[in-house]
Amino acid sequence: MSRVYETGSLEETLALGRKLAERFSPGDVVALSGALGAGKTSLVKGIALGLGVAEPVTSPTFTLIQEYDGRIPLYHIDLYRITDPDQLDDLGIEEYLEGDGVTVIEWPEKAGGLFSSRALAVGVIVLDGGRRRFTVEGMDR
Ligand SMILES: Nc1ncnc2c1ncn2[C@@H]1O[C@H](COP(=O)(O)OP(=O)(O)O)[C@@H](O)[C@H]1O
Ligand SMILES: [Mg+2]
Repeated sequence: MSRVYETGSLEETLALGRKLAERFSPGDVVALSGALGAGKTSLVKGIALGLGVAEPVTSPTFTLIQEYDGRIPLYHIDLYRITDPDQLDDLGIEEYLEGDGVTVIEWPEKAGGLFSSRALAVGVIVLDGGRRRFTVEGMDR
């Protein structure tokens, strides 16, 4: 089953992330797809608020993985710079997926389907006029 949400501002996207996060549990994995600038990291910032993360969330484009303490830990992974799935071997992603946090992955397609079976799929597109449309698949809870 999929759900569709539209947001008209950064603030609304943060609120959506916060609302989604209320339903997440330790061990959940979110594969977050969308073009550069679509609003993926903005949604993660909202998810962080919902998970009770106090620290500001920054884009892990260069570090690839950032961990944040919260009511539930947040593992934020950004695979934008990955050019070959072999480059994932050194990142220890499996340990995050099996950990007690919520793992959110930007550019999951760079991992060649590694997450598709166990992740909630969230996609974002930019509509004419700049609104964002988020599609959430697999959240049956
Ligand atoms: N409805 C909206 N939702 C999210 N971001 C928006 C929206 N409208 C404008 N923006 C802006 O678009 C940019 C999205 O950036 P970011 O979240 O880093 O994208 P991504 O991680 O997908 O590359 C931010 O500067 C944000 O303020
Ligand atoms: Mg981003």
